Amino acid sequence: MSPRTANTAVAVHPLLAERWSPRSFDATHTITDEELVSLLEAARWAPSARNSQPWRFLVGRRGDTTYRRIFATLAPGNRLWAGNSSLLVAAVAAERLESGTPHPGAAYDTGLAVAQLSLQARALGLHAHQMGGFDPERLRTSLGVPDGYQPLSITAIGALAAPELLPQELRDRETAARERRPPAETFFAQSWGNPLPVGP
Ligand SMILES: Cc1cc2nc3c(=O)[nH]c(=O)nc-3n(C[C@H](O)[C@H](O)[C@H](O)COP(=O)(O)O)c2cc1C
Repeated sequence: MSPRTANTAVAVHPLLAERWSPRSFDATHTITDEELVSLLEAARWAPSARNSQPWRFLVGRRGDTTYRRIFATLAPGNRLWAGNSSLLVAAVAAERLESGTPHPGAAYDTGLAVAQLSLQARALGLHAHQMGGFDPERLRTSLGVPDGYQPLSITAIGALAAPELLPQELRDRETAARERRPPAETFFAQSWGNPLPVGP
């Protein structure tokens, strides 16, 4: 068990318990076509309201133009590490349904698709790290995202590398204990704030 494994009250599936967001990616790793298609299929088969599938993805492999354009939109703190990932995937949500009516759940649905992609990465022995720290307007301009589509996140995917390979300022975060708010402050029953009575 990795020290980054989630410390859960009872066992949860290893794909979930061993999902975490690394910054140290192997700069020599490349993704095969089959792995790439399996990641994209995992996203494409996500559930969505009325099967609206509001997600679209811009996909770059390290070394190609799409990757470079996506990378250039990242916030400086994310540019410190994300450039060693094998893939950069920008998730974009359609703001309207095909009928033209606004789709307020588009971001929710698109987040689900990214979650599926992230878990498929784990199933392939890879890791994914989502980022909200990027410039959506720059992404829109440099990759031609049309009006009516909202860039939401960029996900770096690749093979894990040693924490020692990171710049000093990022090393400690890579190995720090992972934390979550306690269940009693998260799961309620009877009324808001009243902890769900689970367990013995
Ligand atoms: C929507 C979203 C945006 C995020 N943005 C960033 C980011 O810009 N930079 C970063 O280093 N991590 C980012 N993260 C990663 C979170 O910091 C991370 O998921 C959280 O600290 C929990 O850690 P874990 O994923 O290892 O469990 C983001 C995660 C999500 C879901």
